[in-house]
Amino acid sequence: VDVNETDPFMFKYRGVYFQTEYTSPQKIDSIQDFKVKDSDVFLVTFPKTGTIWTQQILSLIFNEGHRNGTETVATNYRVPWIEYNIKNVDYDNRPSPRLFSSHLPYYLVPKDLRNRKGKIIYVARNPKDTAVSFYHFLKVLVKIKEVNEWESFLDHYLSGKVIGGSWFDHVKGWYTHQEDFNILFLTYEEMKKDLRSAVLKISKFVEKELEEREVDTIVEKATFQNMKKDPLANYTHVSTDHLDMGKGSFLRKGTVGDWKNLMTVAQNEKFDTFYHEQMRGIPINFTWDI
Ligand code: A3P
Repeated sequence: VDVNETDPFMFKYRGVYFQTEYTSPQKIDSIQDFKVKDSDVFLVTFPKTGTIWTQQILSLIFNEGHRNGTETVATNYRVPWIEYNIKNVDYDNRPSPRLFSSHLPYYLVPKDLRNRKGKIIYVARNPKDTAVSFYHFLKVLVKIKEVNEWESFLDHYLSGKVIGGSWFDHVKGWYTHQEDFNILFLTYEEMKKDLRSAVLKISKFVEKELEEREVDTIVEKATFQNMKKDPLANYTHVSTDHLDMGKGSFLRKGTVGDWKNLMTVAQNEKFDTFYHEQMRGIPINFTWDI
């Protein structure tokens, strides 16, 4: 275990940084043997790439679109983290289908998933907008040291010294190991361009049939504007010991191309060079601006 010399709130384990506050190497190791059920759905993302958005969509598909009463439950309890069981929820006895979230790389998730048991929805977002979103989010995260300077943050991010590790390793790892899993690969940008199609893709993948008007409700409740208004969909209920929403928000801008407001021409060139080196041979075409 390697503690990040600049931030005691993070530790590095098996190539990835985790929050000291919520987990430990032992807990990460124990996830390997978590018993997956065929009906389980895992939402996997790198941080800041649309997790909360897809949590909302998934839970609406299974519950809220149908008014099952879960509209009073916050997103992170409807789709809890497998690696951060903060409230010690009894995962074994959750009603089916169990929905989980994770930021883990492909090699640290439960072994059962690798036998194509359960379903995984992976959402990727272009790494420039992800970096900008992350940078702003560090102000909100109380127990992570803030990197005030954008340029320094960018260096940390490119070298994988952020929670979740390297965006490049995360996306490449999941993308190139798709065949080992039962996986639906989506991008933040396609969700942004056509939310309805994304909802239909997800509901088809999780084998949940929906009526037209249910799809309408889900799309409506998953728009940026409506989620921002809903305290249970945007984590504003989380204790201020952990998240300081006075300094920002989970639902900040929700756009594609915000990186243009922060990156200099030189930073962008450096980023592009790094991107092309890292992503050589990976046929994902990200949308950088809408
Ligand atoms: P920005 O900081 O660029 O606004 P995560 O949930 O993985 O932490 O990702 C957070 C990012 O997803 C934030 O990006 C947030 O605004 C965006 N997001 C959340 N809900 C969204 C929605 N309904 N539509 C578009 N973007 C959304």
